[in-house]
Amino acid sequence: MSQTIRFFLNGKKQEASVRPDTTVLDWLRSVPRLTGTKEGCAEGDCGACSVLIGDPAGDAVHYQAANSCILAMGQIDGRAVVTVEGLKTEQLHPVQAAMAENGSSQCGFCTPGIVISLAGLAAQRSPAGAGLAAQGNAAATGLAHKTEVTDSDIHDALAGNLCRCTGYRPIVEAARKVGNVTIAGPHVAAFAKIEPRTTISAAGSTFHQPQSLNDVLQLRKEKPDAILLGGGTDLGVALADYHTDWNEVISLARVRELRAIRETENHLSFGAAVTWEEILAGIIEYYPSFATLIRRFGSTQIRSMGTIGGNIGTASPIGDGPPALIALGAEIELASLSGHRFLALEDFFLDYRKTELRADEVIASVSIPKPAEDQEFRVYKISKRYDQDISTVCAAFSVVREEGQVRSARIAFGGMAATPQRAPKAEQALVGSTFDHRAVEACARAITAQFKPLSDWRGSAEYRLQVAANLAERFWRDVAGETVEVMAL
Ligand SMILES: Cc1cc2nc3c(=O)[nH]c(=O)nc-3n(C[C@H](O)[C@H](O)[C@H](O)COP(=O)(O)OP(=O)(O)OC[C@H]3O[C@@H](n4cnc5c(N)ncnc54)[C@H](O)[C@@H]3O)c2cc1C
Ligand code: FES
Ligand code: FES
Repeated sequence: MSQTIRFFLNGKKQEASVRPDTTVLDWLRSVPRLTGTKEGCAEGDCGACSVLIGDPAGDAVHYQAANSCILAMGQIDGRAVVTVEGLKTEQLHPVQAAMAENGSSQCGFCTPGIVISLAGLAAQRSPAGAGLAAQGNAAATGLAHKTEVTDSDIHDALAGNLCRCTGYRPIVEAARKVGNVTIAGPHVAAFAKIEPRTTISAAGSTFHQPQSLNDVLQLRKEKPDAILLGGGTDLGVALADYHTDWNEVISLARVRELRAIRETENHLSFGAAVTWEEILAGIIEYYPSFATLIRRFGSTQIRSMGTIGGNIGTASPIGDGPPALIALGAEIELASLSGHRFLALEDFFLDYRKTELRADEVIASVSIPKPAEDQEFRVYKISKRYDQDISTVCAAFSVVREEGQVRSARIAFGGMAATPQRAPKAEQALVGSTFDHRAVEACARAITAQFKPLSDWRGSAEYRLQVAANLAERFWRDVAGETVEVMAL
């Protein structure tokens, strides 16, 4: 058992003797006094606290932006952290120079976070970005080797960074001018010096980071009250906002089996600790509409940390993953020392934040079938803002047609009940039909009859019902090719 957290900070090896549940932001600002990393919202929304986190990947180091306000020190053990101070060597970093030359900053509070996000994006198109691809993780390949960065990539990289005074035009212009960049960090071989330890314990907080599923299950059996930690983008908000203590944590981030993405002839399977950024790269080819949804999931900082297992484990009625996964017929694997069991994802959710998960179990993987011939799938997220917002309603539709008739249909909603839910009567209204307007109207009526959503500040019950029913028609028109892509969907 170790009492220190070992990592690289701006290229230099560092050992921190601190509770592993201290946030990285608090530590950066109070111990090495790296105050370029700012605190804005302290809940993952504004990006002022962004840092780059580096991991060895093949023969390179892969960097991605993360929110240090909701990241615990235990989560950076064995990794590299680059703050805005670490980007500048003898001269301004190319991103900083482009921002300065382009008048892309006024009060400057958001600027360090924006520089970090853009440096993260630019680093992915530099040769070192090939690391993830070299690692052989098929789904991660799309993340690396961004040889050409489009405006859409720039907007994605900035979606988690709020700027209230400059306005985004000069920031985006600066981003367009940045060429290939390197991040002044440790060489990949140096990571051998900071190999992650299985247990770190300091000042009453213990952080386990097992590397095999069997070790996780053993810990789960011995310590049923320990917090199970995926990427911490849900749990970290409570850590930062309410200063909850994590006295015992089992981190899943280094568990080989839970980090795997598998592809068979008919299925895609994601280990529970696979991040949304990795899933995005893996899913785009099969379900582009799901990929569009994932691009709207939080921000790049959130997607680089948040996992599919955490999104399901948190059992939020407004989580974005479950409706899409349920409509795709996802199966979830629950593992414990007594064995593995598999269930349809919709059967995992029992009631508000109540699930089938037993105290000795973990979600091990989620698998979805690859698209069938003549399958149409769309998922729609309705929220107040396009990016970085929680759904008011999330609706997913999938139909498979055979000789002009709907052979099967799966429809699922988030934001309409205490759990993500399927809409069986709405599905029945489509099955056997020629997918005509009359059937779609019956489907919409069945949706209105089934759900009794809540009213809250995101939307009234009436609004939710109307939107959910309208989305059935939107799906039908989308499939018919009658609609145009609009930002709000
Ligand atoms: C700024 C911000 C924006 C967000 N935007 C979105 C959004 O657009 N859409 C959306 O759906 N969500 C959003 N979220 C919520 C969150 O990012 C997601 O739910 C994410 O997928 C959670 O994954 P995680 O690994 O970070 O979970 P964690 O915080 O690590 O864990 C969440 C819960 O799941 C449990 N858990 C984790 N892994 C497992 C496992 N393998 N087995 C069993 N239980 C497990 C944990 O014990 C905990 O109870 C946002 C959060 C923030 C802070
Ligand atoms: S301080 Fe706002 S995202 Fe961290
Ligand atoms: S420069 Fe002031 S918030 Fe962006």
